[in-house]
Amino acid sequence: MNVCFIMYPWEQIDAENDTSLALIKECVKRGHGVAMCTPANLTIRNSVTSAFCTVVGRMDKVPSTLKAFYKKAQLREEMLPLAGFDAIFFRANPPLDPIMLNFLDSVKDDVFIINSIEGMREANNKLYTAAFGDAHSNIIPATHVSKNKRYLIEQIRDSKADKMILKPLNGFGGSGVILIEKSAMSNINSLLDFYISNSDGTSNYVILQDYIEGAEQGDIRILLLNGEPVGAMKRVPGSDDHRSNVSAGGSVQKHSLTKAEKALCKQIGPKLVNDGLYFVGIDVIGGKLVEVNVMSPGGITYINKVYKPKVKIEEKVIDFLESKVLDKLQAFDRRARLRKTVEEA
Ligand SMILES: Nc1ncnc2c1ncn2[C@@H]1O[C@H](COP(=O)(O)OP(=O)(O)O)[C@@H](O)[C@H]1O
Ligand SMILES: [Mg+2]
Repeated sequence: MNVCFIMYPWEQIDAENDTSLALIKECVKRGHGVAMCTPANLTIRNSVTSAFCTVVGRMDKVPSTLKAFYKKAQLREEMLPLAGFDAIFFRANPPLDPIMLNFLDSVKDDVFIINSIEGMREANNKLYTAAFGDAHSNIIPATHVSKNKRYLIEQIRDSKADKMILKPLNGFGGSGVILIEKSAMSNINSLLDFYISNSDGTSNYVILQDYIEGAEQGDIRILLLNGEPVGAMKRVPGSDDHRSNVSAGGSVQKHSLTKAEKALCKQIGPKLVNDGLYFVGIDVIGGKLVEVNVMSPGGITYINKVYKPKVKIEEKVIDFLESKVLDKLQAFDRRARLRKTVEEA
């Protein structure tokens, strides 16, 4: 099959730890065609959606390590029509450009897209956790999303806990996630102004969330494929940070899912599949869902490393992709046969 990865530029890849690179390598290893492009490189030419792609040359023998694969890969530039691919693997970082999704709309009947456009539209920011209809905070921590400074300050003052988390709707990698302490409120007005108001007169929603006790010991990243957990790791914050993201200095440990975490996956898995969110990474603290990452969930390489040599999550993901592409091709064939039957009648 031929797969187009819509993602960040090749030069920005961390050759040792990048999940997209692990998926690309697995495709190349299986003899599939791979091209990459950034969202900004989609173009409509004579009503055909195309992309300025970086094509990864085929390799007879694929090096065993990611780093060696990254170094050895032969790249060439080519403009290719998106509808000519069998699958599009969307792996760009947030924020999501809604106009870019319209480009993909034009090929969604022809190409299998992971994650689905509808799913990404619905789940591209941290509001998606609210879509599980969890009015009593059984699944997610008590959460407020607002632009109203007065409301947010009231919530902090009224909260029973002395700590809360403030974060932007669209962040990733821990950026902008801060701890608010009731005992130190003198900066809160200025902080909220900074998060909410932009210099061009526009404004942003912010998330104010109960701090989950125990978060200082780390959070759990679970990768779900087709609604089922396929790997998990514990991320422990560095000594001088409250955030567990690896990009914010967190370190990675083995983790076996607890009963509560398995139950959470069972609870949310069917909705994820229904929304076309086939490959996602969820962040869980104390059994509560903090975030659903649907755009470029990472963690494959770290989980593989801590479970060495047994786990290769990228194999499961590409198995799944192959089976979805096969389903699609068989459906096209079937339709062609049926059309012929009618035509010849
Ligand atoms: N409600 C919370 N309670 C405690 N810690 C939190 C909470 N929300 C976020 N964090 C910490 O901040 C990190 C990043 O938050 P997250 O919502 O996953 O945003 P990002 O998209 O930046 O990863 C989490 O992994 C966790 O360590
Ligand atoms: Mg996160």
